[in-house]
Amino acid sequence: TGLHSLFVAAGKLYFGTATETNNLDDPTYQNILSNPLEFGQQTPENSQKWGLIQPNPGDFAFNNSDLITDLSKSYNHLLRCHTLTWHSQLPPFVSASSWTPDTLRQLLTTHITAVVSHFGSACYAWDVVNEALNENGTLRSSVFLDVLGEEYIALSFNIAAGAAPPETKLYYNDFNLETSPQKQTAAVELVKSLQAQGVKIDGVGLQAHFTVGQTPSLESLTATLRRFTDLGVDVAWTELDVAHEDVENSSELAVEQQAEDYVAAVRACIEVERCVGVTVWQFTDKYSWVPGTFPGKGDACLWTADYQRKSAYWAVKGFLEGW
Ligand code: G3I
Repeated sequence: TGLHSLFVAAGKLYFGTATETNNLDDPTYQNILSNPLEFGQQTPENSQKWGLIQPNPGDFAFNNSDLITDLSKSYNHLLRCHTLTWHSQLPPFVSASSWTPDTLRQLLTTHITAVVSHFGSACYAWDVVNEALNENGTLRSSVFLDVLGEEYIALSFNIAAGAAPPETKLYYNDFNLETSPQKQTAAVELVKSLQAQGVKIDGVGLQAHFTVGQTPSLESLTATLRRFTDLGVDVAWTELDVAHEDVENSSELAVEQQAEDYVAAVRACIEVERCVGVTVWQFTDKYSWVPGTFPGKGDACLWTADYQRKSAYWAVKGFLEGW
């Protein structure tokens, strides 16, 4: 047995991981990733982002993202596609140009239509709009908000819906929805507003970038997920990791706490019917984004950098075996 097979036995669709093209020539990594018992889903960690996929106007570069798509097909993994409209990792021609509402609408239409059409039915789901909210619940400033106002969100979903096969799940995806009450409420309102406008939104992705000991309780996590599923949408943990705040000084107690935090997240998804799956944001510390962004922080994954399974892995597996 493994994480994916046990999670499926518990009624869920997938247990998956973010993957990156520079992981392709790492045989140990591939050996674990390709184990159908451990993983049933992938999300390209970077290769479908705007700056990489359309770096210059009209210059679409699908080669790297196609490698992940091909890999997920050959491993029989679902693919969560990530991401279309995001303020970050934009190429200079998008972020630095002076757009009018009309030209920016046209740009979004061209980009989203080309990218969504290219991947077609390979994508189980798309993170259509990523991280549109500030912690205080207001909309985050970006070229999209500044030029178009909040209409850019509905517009992005409508363009994606027009280009995607009907079965593709369209998601709003964000972080700290689990920990920031104002942001969570704003995301609930955002979903309601899209639904009231007749926009197709199928799910909310909660990134679940947690810190050891600061992860919300099981009760809080399930309540958060239910706030969204009560609106009639699916939910998923889309980028789960649980980082030690200070890797150098982390204790045995912190190792156990990390295991408990992972189990709480996995259990919350099982307890909420419309939680479809869990994606970890890389399964090995070797490729985790955390230390690069937050120096000193890390050890956030289920496998160590040299591919040993951690206590957190065994705790999740043990929990799933007993479920
Ligand atoms: O590809 C270039 C390489 O050519 C260059 O030499 C190198 C030098 O810095 O940078 C490489 O690009 C890096 C890219 O990852 C690919 O490895 C960027 O610097 C680096 O900033 C980028 O980080 C990614 C980050 O998103 C960007 O915002 C992380 O890998 C990725 O894990 C992270 O993922 C995000 C999700 O998409 C959205 N939610 C939050 C999550 C964590 O930040």
